[in-house]
Amino acid sequence: MQTWRLDDGRQTLVLAARTARLPEVVYWGPALPKEDDLESLARATRIDVTGGMLDENPDLSICPEAVRTFPGQPGLICRDSDGTPLLPKFCFASDKRDGSRLELTFVDDANGLTLTACFETDAHTGLITCQTTLSATRPIHLHWLAAPVVPAPQSADEMIDFTGRWCGEFQTAITPWTPGMRYRENRTGRTGHEHFPGLIIPGRGATNANGEAWGFHYGWSGGHKMIAEELPDGRRQVQFGHAARMETEAATEFKTAKLFLTYSDQGLNGCAVSFQRHVRDRVVQFPNAARARPVHYNCWEAVYFDHKLPVLKDIADRAADLGAERFVLDDGWFGERDDDTTSLSDWEVDPRKYPDGLTPLIEHVHSLGMTFGIWFEPEMINPNSNIHRKYPHWALGSEDQTLGRQQKAMNMALAEVRDFIYDRMSAILAAHDIDYIKWDHNRVLPMPDAAQTRGSYALLDRLRDAFPNVEIESCASGGGRIDFGILERTHRVWLSDSNDALERLRIQHNAALFLPSVVTGSHVGPRHCHTSGRVLDISFRAWVAAQRHMGFEMDPRELDDREEAVLREVTSWYKHNRHWMAKADILRLDSHDPSVIAEIQVASGGDQFAAFIGKADTSAQIAPRPQRLTGLDPAARYRVNLANKIAAPALSRGDPLLKHEDLEVSGQWLMTQGVTVPWSFPNHMWVLEGTRI
Ligand code: DGJ
Repeated sequence: MQTWRLDDGRQTLVLAARTARLPEVVYWGPALPKEDDLESLARATRIDVTGGMLDENPDLSICPEAVRTFPGQPGLICRDSDGTPLLPKFCFASDKRDGSRLELTFVDDANGLTLTACFETDAHTGLITCQTTLSATRPIHLHWLAAPVVPAPQSADEMIDFTGRWCGEFQTAITPWTPGMRYRENRTGRTGHEHFPGLIIPGRGATNANGEAWGFHYGWSGGHKMIAEELPDGRRQVQFGHAARMETEAATEFKTAKLFLTYSDQGLNGCAVSFQRHVRDRVVQFPNAARARPVHYNCWEAVYFDHKLPVLKDIADRAADLGAERFVLDDGWFGERDDDTTSLSDWEVDPRKYPDGLTPLIEHVHSLGMTFGIWFEPEMINPNSNIHRKYPHWALGSEDQTLGRQQKAMNMALAEVRDFIYDRMSAILAAHDIDYIKWDHNRVLPMPDAAQTRGSYALLDRLRDAFPNVEIESCASGGGRIDFGILERTHRVWLSDSNDALERLRIQHNAALFLPSVVTGSHVGPRHCHTSGRVLDISFRAWVAAQRHMGFEMDPRELDDREEAVLREVTSWYKHNRHWMAKADILRLDSHDPSVIAEIQVASGGDQFAAFIGKADTSAQIAPRPQRLTGLDPAARYRVNLANKIAAPALSRGDPLLKHEDLEVSGQWLMTQGVTVPWSFPNHMWVLEGTRI
């Protein structure tokens, strides 16, 4: 028997192979002592054979093979170049260890195939990154290739994955484990609001703060497939890969995207912290990591397509005065883009709106001390555009395809298309002092195609090489393209088009299972929300935005004196705290009141925290229940202060201590008794600041 182990101090993953077959993950959980004998452990894990079974149970390997009578979904489905189905059966060829990296190679000589699985641990973030590569001696067709397959825990009753919609991203879907499978397949060609490629399997009884959980994320922007299957014998497997049949051409090599795994014994938060840290410290490459996240102003909901230089200058003046540090010019500056029916791909400044080009606006923005960002939707083309009239074949999909937002996608697999987009975008970037691109993608593809995603990645990489100081935001009608693949190439995500703080609070809360604050854009929207019709107070809107990378998106001309004052104050709070919040862990709090959505952000090192206790609804009981904090040192003492005391309404008539003074107390008390905040109306955020004494 061959065995391998991966350790990062927090978790251990053990692989074992009988004879020379593909190995199985025989253990994935809390760190095991060095002395544990892996071979006995593997033998002891093996399930028995009884009536109604084969004489030996088929391996649940890192790529289950159909030909070995595996009773579930195989990890690889492929055909020879002439269409003949191949039934791969791999044998061990070699293993290679390089520090924290393990590479295992297997061959199938009869079919001329080689399968390589890589695993890499990271002690700082607690994520295991793994990936599978398949190569063939001649071009073959790929139907399905799973990243290394792992068994799912037997101690779990359910699984949590993610669904959503425009303005309603990161909704959790909870499915019980039963025989058969949960099959998610995203065939839209982009990550999608509906299909965030993540999975969390909580052990029985796990909560945000307690218990065991196993987390998965597939870092790919072209649409993924997930299989979570329970076999008749009770074993469970999890597979992640690109959506099936995404490779349209025969080829000699195929690679999955990276699959990220993490085990937690600190509830869902343990997974969340690993994902957050990995994104922040490993995946995202900030041009200048020391630069504080600038407060944004984005003009979309203020002017839409109606760009008038004097109005934009006036808005910029007001935004800067309120505390904005980067002005982002959204859709509408190019071609003849007066609405969303026209001009995508005509990436030249509209002389009707900007007779002297963008320079006068950019110089004005700079004179106010703000930097300048600009919107593109690079992969898209309107049939009503000069470029489509000239090169109709550059559009992806058939002529009679259904349009989405009156537009088609460009065929990003074509080098000439990528060159064209690169030339147009780089002309704008080279001619102006621009430090930010909002990169949009507002429709699904006519069909899934991995070459499209690779083309988008190549364009992004080329632009980043040429303009290394430009930061990029991934937007796709809000949160339609959020995954670690795109985040390797971008620096912020536009989490949702919903600037409704109430909706945003929930979306942010769930997205924090994977995303750190520093990449998560959040804007203060208009008083009267454009996408929900709700009217929310400025204080709630501002505090929800201050939880993440803060910005404004309302028309500042609508703000009255009180609203301006509150916004100024919260923005200044954000600026005062962003240096440590950029490196903080976000821990979701378990609340005993279903109307409360709460989190704590704990500074690296633990000396400081901010807890955001959001009241998202009217409570069933009269008074607020105490809110337990988490992630603190039980033995340490903390000074806790209610940052926005003055927000207590007149109906809060009592005298809880925090309304008037600071509290000095142990971490133990904060995490077991919890903090009782004053009464408030719904749609209110209490903010607690804490420092270790
Ligand atoms: C969709 C984005 O999500 C919005 O923020 C805005 O940029 C529009 N597209 C512009 O068309």
